[in-house]
Amino acid sequence: MFGFKTNKVSGYFEPIGPSTEDKLILPAGFKYDVVAAYGDVINQKGDTFGYNNDFTVYFPIDGSNERGLLWVNHEYTSELWVTGEPKDGKFTPAQIEKLLYNQGGSVIEVYRDEDGVWKMDTKSKYARRVTGLTKGIQLTGPAAGSKAVNGAKTVQGTFANCSGGMTLWNTLLTCEENYETTAGDAGLDVTHYGWVVEVDPFDDKAPIKKHTALGRFNHENTAMGLSKDGRVVVYMGDDKKDAGVYKFVSKGKYDPAAGKANSKLLEDGTLYVANMKAGKWVAVTIEALKAVMEKEGWKPSKGTAEEWKKKYVSQADVVVNTHEVAMALGGTPTDRPEDIEISPFDNTFFVCHTNNDSHGNIHGHITRYMEKDNDLGAMEFDFEIFAAGGRQSGFSAPDNITFDSNGDLWTVTDMSSGSMNKGVFAAFGNNGVFVIPSSGPSKGEALQFASAPKDAELTGPWFTPDERTLFLAVQHPGENTEDAAKPTSMWPHRKGDDQPRPAVVAISGFKF
Ligand code: FEO
Ligand code: CA
Ligand code: CA
Ligand code: CA
Repeated sequence: MFGFKTNKVSGYFEPIGPSTEDKLILPAGFKYDVVAAYGDVINQKGDTFGYNNDFTVYFPIDGSNERGLLWVNHEYTSELWVTGEPKDGKFTPAQIEKLLYNQGGSVIEVYRDEDGVWKMDTKSKYARRVTGLTKGIQLTGPAAGSKAVNGAKTVQGTFANCSGGMTLWNTLLTCEENYETTAGDAGLDVTHYGWVVEVDPFDDKAPIKKHTALGRFNHENTAMGLSKDGRVVVYMGDDKKDAGVYKFVSKGKYDPAAGKANSKLLEDGTLYVANMKAGKWVAVTIEALKAVMEKEGWKPSKGTAEEWKKKYVSQADVVVNTHEVAMALGGTPTDRPEDIEISPFDNTFFVCHTNNDSHGNIHGHITRYMEKDNDLGAMEFDFEIFAAGGRQSGFSAPDNITFDSNGDLWTVTDMSSGSMNKGVFAAFGNNGVFVIPSSGPSKGEALQFASAPKDAELTGPWFTPDERTLFLAVQHPGENTEDAAKPTSMWPHRKGDDQPRPAVVAISGFKF
């Protein structure tokens, strides 16, 4: 059953228009349930749901579409609503603890009750937090124990968790994006962050792993698939202006019978960056870099050739400084590559280039990449602009994307709360969810499915396998508030509440 078919304009729903209201607005026939909001108790131990929920991923329990574990990322905190302002620019130890506790992720157990309302089950034996304070997170791969990470084999915590992805073996990957600020504020070793982190939501004894072979940069998300010869391929965006699009290809082959032991595949393989002019994947390796550094007259973009030769000795040095090396090897700087998804239909993959105001790409675009012979392991590709943000399409700043089983692309937008509803952004209203149908009368158009409350962005769209439910995170409502007594948003407008709260909602159609 396909839960979003209501046989209206697009064949799915009657699109809504832009709005500036402090509401989460959905098309007629759809409703949302607030499943978990910042500060809610999630388990019997009394752990609480972190701030600024982002990526969500649903793991069915016993194959159920109505009970499962939901992993939720918590990307960053707010000085107004979580920690309080740092005094003279410095947080107190208590503030740092709050800052770190409210980032990372939550495992919560969710279920749909007999009235069709999604709720959190706080009696869950699985519900737990992974935070910036979590001890003993393992580094795997080339940087583990290396000088480049100051000898660390285990590190404290994960934070700045933006988006992520599911693995083929029923674990999740959560991505450390803008880690620099939190690491700096908390006085932690910055080389320990900026990784792709693997968590098993069903097993709190399973080690949490930061897979250094996948590079260290401002990781947005992961999209995992298989090459024709059975190796694991992971596509990744680096959410910075003028940053590369990456893929990791494992050395070993995926073995479905091995289950979670396939995690090992993420420890050994090759990281590539896209050279878009040549249509080639360039290996980001110490061997390739050495070959470049040895060229007569070679000059790096920053520093001297001598400094580079001292700095770059091993693959550990390369992965820790991925962006700098990737660009030196011919990686193409692109306009803030955010979420990436692989089309379930034709193995092309889609990248949200959200925007880049430093050279006039104000509204962003979605790029479609076609690997040679439709092989995710290919070394050559072609690409085209699939959809452009702007007045004509009706959306600006595409960020997270997901496909439904019709092949329709769902995208959420992330106009910054500071620029929203002003200047060239005025026409778009608040951030939203848009659906680009792959067929039917509205093929290729962007149809608005949701409008966010004030100052918020909508993140982490994730369908249950039967697609009757869409989980969505409402991030940073009321972010522009200057005076806590006068919040710009009070979403989700719960009775007795005194502040806006980021929250995860479950959206479903009344008819289903
Ligand atoms: Fe955290 Fe790239 O958005
Ligand atoms: Ca965000
Ligand atoms: Ca994002
Ligand atoms: Ca974003």
